[in-house]
Amino acid sequence: MAVIFHENTQTFHIYNQYVSDILYIMQNGQIENLYYGRVINDKEDFSYLHEEVMRSQMSVCIPEPGLLSMHYVKQEYPVYGTGDYRSPALTIRQKNGSEIVDFKYESHEIFSGKRPLKGLPAVYTESGEEAETLEIKLHDSVINADLILSYTIFRDYPVIIRNARILHKGTAEIRLEGMMSASVEFPDMDYEMLQLSGAWGRERYIKTRKLEMGIQSIQSLCGTCSSAEQNPFLALKRPDTTEDAGEVFGFSLVYSGNFLAQVEVSTFDMTRVMIGIHEQGFSWELNCGEEFQTPEVVMVYSDKGLNGMSQTYHRLYRTRLMRGKWRDSARPILLNNWEATYFDFTEEKILQIAKKAKEVGVELFVLDDGWFGTRNDDYQGLGDWFVNTDKLPDGIAGLSRKIEEMGLKFGLWVELEMVNKNSDCYREHPDWLIGVPDRFESFARHQHVLDFSRPEVVDYIYDAITKILDESRISYIKWDMNRYMTEPFCRTEKPENQGKTMHKYILGVYDLYSRLTERYPEILFESCSSGGARFDPGLMYYTPQTWTSDDSDAGERQKIQYGTSLVYPIVSMGAHVSAVPNHQLFRKTPLSTRANVAYFGTFGYELDLNLLSEAEIEEVKEQICFMKKYRHLIQVEGDFYRIRSPFKGNETAWIVVSRDKTQAVAAFYQRLNKVNASWLRMNFKGLDEKMLYEVKWDDHILRAYGNELMYAGIPIDREALNKKGGDFASILYTLEAVQQ
Ligand code: DGJ
Repeated sequence: MAVIFHENTQTFHIYNQYVSDILYIMQNGQIENLYYGRVINDKEDFSYLHEEVMRSQMSVCIPEPGLLSMHYVKQEYPVYGTGDYRSPALTIRQKNGSEIVDFKYESHEIFSGKRPLKGLPAVYTESGEEAETLEIKLHDSVINADLILSYTIFRDYPVIIRNARILHKGTAEIRLEGMMSASVEFPDMDYEMLQLSGAWGRERYIKTRKLEMGIQSIQSLCGTCSSAEQNPFLALKRPDTTEDAGEVFGFSLVYSGNFLAQVEVSTFDMTRVMIGIHEQGFSWELNCGEEFQTPEVVMVYSDKGLNGMSQTYHRLYRTRLMRGKWRDSARPILLNNWEATYFDFTEEKILQIAKKAKEVGVELFVLDDGWFGTRNDDYQGLGDWFVNTDKLPDGIAGLSRKIEEMGLKFGLWVELEMVNKNSDCYREHPDWLIGVPDRFESFARHQHVLDFSRPEVVDYIYDAITKILDESRISYIKWDMNRYMTEPFCRTEKPENQGKTMHKYILGVYDLYSRLTERYPEILFESCSSGGARFDPGLMYYTPQTWTSDDSDAGERQKIQYGTSLVYPIVSMGAHVSAVPNHQLFRKTPLSTRANVAYFGTFGYELDLNLLSEAEIEEVKEQICFMKKYRHLIQVEGDFYRIRSPFKGNETAWIVVSRDKTQAVAAFYQRLNKVNASWLRMNFKGLDEKMLYEVKWDDHILRAYGNELMYAGIPIDREALNKKGGDFASILYTLEAVQQ
């Protein structure tokens, strides 16, 4: 790993054994990208990679007889108005109304490790040897501001992390109207763009499209979150790239609010990728001495296909984005009462459910929505973080003690950013809502957004919730957030600062997460947002797991978890076995399949086990034993490989293999059963070709070499699928290396 500056040629080479990023200080002082891709040897001079010819209507930005036009240059951080007619990464409005800027190279700094970002989540290093960072300082002398472009390269990963910040030193205020985290350019357009798109209940489906000239983009304008509709991620892959071979470039934004991820292809086939905070609703005034820091973007290069890219994100995010006690630990097997009771529960009912959970081997009981204020339905109570003693006479303190006395840990649901108008909190503080005075306040799920851009609101919620946490025995928090923002407006801010509201809201959320996770380092936090509307790297910094989707149907979950795995590690995906008929799809799937899907996540139950038959309870006990045996492999130690895509056919398959390749757990799932079906094989992945494995599934045991299992595969046992009910049946395989 190295960051080298070749003084004579004014060239930076950022590289490790996998990837190279080569930057060049152009004649006009701005930074050009000469190359980004698979590692190439370092040398002094890469200037031949700068391409320049005289073209019609070309605007030249240096004095004659030179020739340099920004429209044809692959730039590191482009701006508009000086001859480049593509979208800019940076727009600064100045006092005189001009948006023209000219940031020229001034100096640079190379240091080991990586610095944290103020107020923002970020990938971190644990020692200086893990990574090296280059910061290039550019300066605009007219407005007197510095622009700092930051690049961190990791020693062990094909990863470069970028961010940008601006420091205003001038006396006249300036206004940021748009500031992307990074811009990256490629010399050709022979790529497909991959994105994770969806909606509530069907989050993060993989969508692919061929690049065309012009702009293609995804975005969130939801204000409170990265959204269920689009995830803050895109990748460019070559058309012939598969799951296991070929080039992919991933871009993942460590942020939970409004974002834009955009690819612009010029009519000269150049491809520009930009990702960062969306400029809609964003406008940030900077006075003398003030700074603005963008979120960071984690760029992964893979020449081992999509699985290669995903495994890099999984390892990096699991070990260098997640933090705290739970980072390296397998997660407790939980039971959540939401789908068992919804709002309709008493302490007696909860204790009955918890007792049965304890009997089968569950470790953590989670009390979901409905325990506070007058929260008997979703019309009321949010904001009133004191217990409803009609339902829970001994409070959360009493209930948590009783649950712990049963031998279970206790977890609690909260939705701290929201308020119902029917609540004491709203009646006392009607001016704490995000919303424009004198205008209708749109509602969603009958609730409104508290203005977390205001520190006094965050402080109030912090005090209310720490009171509950301090007096109770709480090991887990599910932090929910169930609506998008409307009428974005802060009632206490000056008109010129309204464009800060949405970003400051997210900073307020991060601030509360920081304070709570620091104060309660033992608590396992799980984020949630109407299921998976906040499944993003920003939140992963604070919460090592996220409720993946409100759709708990095992068939639909295959798609959701498969898509989510493109970027996010298995251990981050909240996954539960729920009742049938399923509450979202009214579909019946076998109990075995419901567990076979949930194993590839945090694993838990979301139903009243008292309603199961004795045979089903026995099955549940076996499931829990299985997960206790294999969860360290699945959640912490293993590498996940996608084998068959639910987006391409009737079957899904995947596998987790231990780092030393001696152990693996794999699963095959079918959707609809087929009569007189064609032959089908389960071809494993990621095994050691030469190791001999003992493979077990249902009543079968087979000894076979890794290469047999990967290339010849095991025929799918149709009879076994039929016996398990046919539709939505599945097969779970365990593999252990044995002496030859
Ligand atoms: C939405 C979540 O996704 C559900 O799991 C549940 O916690 C409800 N909110 C409770 O209101």
